[in-house]
Amino acid sequence: MPVTEPDDLRARLDAARSVCVLTGSGISAESGLPTFRGVGGLWRTHRVEELASPRGFARDPRLVWTWYGERRRAHMSVQPSPAHVALAEIERRVPDFTLATQNVDSLHILAGSRNVLELHGKMREAKCTRCDARRPFDDAFDLDALEHDCGGMWRPDIVWFGESLPPAVLEAAFDAARRAELMLVVGTSGIVQPAASLATKRCTRAYVVEINPEETALTPHADRSIRARASDVLPQLAR
Ligand code: OAD
Repeated sequence: MPVTEPDDLRARLDAARSVCVLTGSGISAESGLPTFRGVGGLWRTHRVEELASPRGFARDPRLVWTWYGERRRAHMSVQPSPAHVALAEIERRVPDFTLATQNVDSLHILAGSRNVLELHGKMREAKCTRCDARRPFDDAFDLDALEHDCGGMWRPDIVWFGESLPPAVLEAAFDAARRAELMLVVGTSGIVQPAASLATKRCTRAYVVEINPEETALTPHADRSIRARASDVLPQLAR
C-alpha cells in the first residue's frame, strides 16, 4: 500500500473511541527544528551533560540558559508543520484523545491540540530549583536575575538527564495508553524511557502504528510501521 493512501489506518481511526499519540522530535523536524540523534542532531553537536543535567546547571547556569535561549529563539522562529496540524484535527474527531509528546517546543499546542501531555517539560517556562514557583521564559526573562526570592534559582522547566518526569503527567500518559484502542508513534527513536514504554505491550493493548522513515527501538513493539515522514501520512489521515 502506498503510504500516501493510509485507508486501512483511517478505518481504524474512525472506529477507535480512544486514541493515544506519542510524538518525538521527528515531527518538529518537519517545522525545521533539529532532532536529537539524527544528522545534525542536538546531542551529536552538544554535550548533554553540560547542558541538560542538574550538575551542568550548578556548574554554569549562564551557559545552560544561553543554550536554552538559543533553542527558544529557534522554536519561536518556526511554525507547526502539516503533521502537527493534522493531529489537532484528528483530536476533534475522537471522543478520547491524548497526545503525549516528548517535545518541549509547544508546537502541538500552537497547532491547536488540546489534550497535550508534555512529558519532558516545556521551553516556555522557567521553574525554581527550590520551591514550586514558575514564570514565563520569554523575551522579558533576565539572565542577570536568576536568583529567586526563596533562595533558589530559576532553571528551564525541562526534564534533564537523571531527573524524573512530572509524576501527574506521566500517570496521565500511562492511563491514556491503557485506555487506547489505537496508538500512533510519530517521530521518535523510542530509546528514551519511560516515554518509549508507553507504546509497548506492557503498557497498552492498542493497535500500535509507528510513523517514522527509519527503523527504531519501538519497531519490534509496533503492529505496523509506516516508513514515511509524518507529513506524508498524518494530513491524509486527518482529511
Ligand atoms: P531522536 O533524535 O532520538 O529521534 C528522532 C526520530 O525522528 C528518529 O527516529 C527519526 O528517524 C525520526 N524522524 C526524523 N524526521 C522525521 C519525520 N519527518 N517524520 C517522522 N519521523 C522523523 O529524538 P526523540 O526520540 O524525540 O529528551 O528523543 C527523545 C528524547 O531524547 C527527547 O525528548 C530529549 C532527548 O534527550 C529530553 O531532552 C528530556
